[in-house]
Amino acid sequence: MRLKHLLLGFLGLFILIQFIRPDKSAPTFASKQDISAVLETPAEVGAMLKAACYDCHSYQTRYPWYAEIAPVSWWLANHISEGREHVNFSTFGAMPTGERLEVLAECSEVVLDGEMPLRSYTWMHPEARLSAEQRRLLAEWFSTHANWEGGPEGEEEDKY
Ligand code: HEC
Repeated sequence: MRLKHLLLGFLGLFILIQFIRPDKSAPTFASKQDISAVLETPAEVGAMLKAACYDCHSYQTRYPWYAEIAPVSWWLANHISEGREHVNFSTFGAMPTGERLEVLAECSEVVLDGEMPLRSYTWMHPEARLSAEQRRLLAEWFSTHANWEGGPEGEEEDKY
């Protein structure tokens, strides 16, 4: 009898927490501010960014079905808001040039080190798993732009 009550209690709690739903809306943003519009982005690199980074570091998050279920939904929402706080590729163009270069250098580092994308993410998203060759390519793309010749003091606002 006791076990039955305990299970019913858990079930009730599980149903109750479903009502606490994280906000999945994203603000409208100008697509020309997206990193792939601001920087010269080969299709292969753009595809890697989309597959491996955008879910947490942009306003173009694709939510999986389990993002509807608490408490997983809370955990994902936390990753996404923290990820966007650090780097948001959707608003890359709105950042001052110096900051952009810093972000690019950081991105190159975390990709090369295999720190990003997060392991808990690639576990559920096989399409986000980068081979050593892909890592090298993506990190190199980031670092090339981070070492932009115009430098942070450069006046030019065009693609670099
Ligand atoms: C599952 C969500 C997720 C994905 C996918 C993801 N990140 Fe992150 N990223 C985070 C979170 C959360 C943080 C902040 C906490 C941390 O550093 O672990 C972060 C932090 C960062 C930082 C800042 C690191 C620092 O030390 O401050 C950079 C740069 C970064 N990510 C780049 C990337 C790049 C590039 C990709 C794609 C190759 C990527 N991330 C994929 C969630 C993600």
